[in-house]
Amino acid sequence: MDNNIRIEVKDVNFYYGKKSALQNVSMDIKKNKITAIIGPSGCGKSTLIRLFNRMNELIPNTKMEGTINLDGENIYSSKIDVVEVRRQIGMVFQKPNPFPKSIFENVAYGLRVNGIKDKKYIREKVEKSLKNAAIWEEVKNRLFDNALGLSGGQQQRLCIARALAVEPEVLLMDEPCSALDPTSTRKIEELVLDLKKKYTIVIVTHNMQQAARIADYTAFFMMGDLIEYDITDKIFTKPSKKVTEDYITGRFG
Ligand SMILES: Nc1ncnc2c1ncn2[C@@H]1O[C@H](COP(=O)(O)OP(=O)(O)O)[C@@H](O)[C@H]1O
Ligand SMILES: [Mg+2]
Repeated sequence: MDNNIRIEVKDVNFYYGKKSALQNVSMDIKKNKITAIIGPSGCGKSTLIRLFNRMNELIPNTKMEGTINLDGENIYSSKIDVVEVRRQIGMVFQKPNPFPKSIFENVAYGLRVNGIKDKKYIREKVEKSLKNAAIWEEVKNRLFDNALGLSGGQQQRLCIARALAVEPEVLLMDEPCSALDPTSTRKIEELVLDLKKKYTIVIVTHNMQQAARIADYTAFFMMGDLIEYDITDKIFTKPSKKVTEDYITGRFG
């Protein structure tokens, strides 16, 4: 096994009923790198990343074929504990979705779900996660206020803190900035760049400048096919396929 690879996708097909959403996708996601997934709406970006933490199986009448390995282990094997997979692979969504609870309880939530009761440990972990998500200074004096009172950008960083609290290895982000203003977007981008030291990050984005700014690798999808996957710089300056070039230069999509 190549030690630089965190997630290995091999010959993956995915269906919603009879409708195919991904065809024959194979790609390796590298450890401690940021991988951007781009492509027109409906091309299968969200479907792909939801396969990485076994979220699609919550949708009835769906089927996956192929293999997805995390650190060399097939996450779809019958021996695997799904709860543990979802702990190892955290997810942040397009629309910030804090629980209607205090800021503190939002971050402590995953720890409590995992059965942790030690109050001191929880307090320290909440503080550390909020610091890692670059929001501690803004909330340290209001930890017990309702999280819904935060701005959109703060809520998204809180959701990142909540994901980090359970010590995942991979962070999946599905268009995490699309509901945010430019200032909050910049903060999230800086945060993501900092987080890659410790985590492997897969980010779906509609914003090609964002992919170009932060991603080490970029994968371009169209209608469920992985068209091209390479170093970001190569995708944006010298793509090897004509359709990739047409997409990144804004000719469609
Ligand atoms: N829950 C679902 N049920 C049926 N079809 C779905 C569902 N979710 C997504 N699809 C379809 O699968 C394809 C890929 O969707 P999606 O992964 O959401 O694309 P993207 O994130 O790139 O916009 C689309 O054709 C979409 O309509
Ligand atoms: Mg999507």
